[in-house]
Amino acid sequence: MKQQTILVTGGAGFVGSVCVELLVAQGYNVIVLDNLQTGNRRAVHPKARLVRGSIGLARLLQRIGRNTGTRHHLNYRCKSVIA
Ligand SMILES: NC(=O)c1ccc[n+]([C@@H]2O[C@H](COP(=O)([O-])OP(=O)(O)OC[C@H]3O[C@@H](n4cnc5c(N)ncnc54)[C@H](O)[C@@H]3O)[C@@H](O)[C@H]2O)c1
Repeated sequence: MKQQTILVTGGAGFVGSVCVELLVAQGYNVIVLDNLQTGNRRAVHPKARLVRGSIGLARLLQRIGRNTGTRHHLNYRCKSVIA
């Protein structure tokens, strides 16, 4: 069976990198899209592929989807602000 590919934005961050580890352990192909603003490339699992860039670049997201067959996207880059 073909491995499913999952895109994890913010996957070099604290929460996202844990998610990436769990997905890799379950046998998924994982692509991390992260601009490394607060994340760290060393936090990205070695089996995951890191693409450095911003989630705001729609064409980049489209290209990743087209070139890799990615159909699932998990987003961990959100900033929450409590006022
Ligand atoms: N850390 C916690 O304990 C915790 C608990 C509950 C909820 N959350 C929520 O989870 C989310 C992630 O938290 P975290 O602690 O992992 O933060 P983090 O800063 O460690 O991770 C965010 C990641 O997103 C990346 N990023 C930021 N802007 C980007 C952009 N435009 N394009 C691509 N990548 C971008 C950063 O480089 C970083 O790797 C936040 O919404 C936070 O509020 C965190």
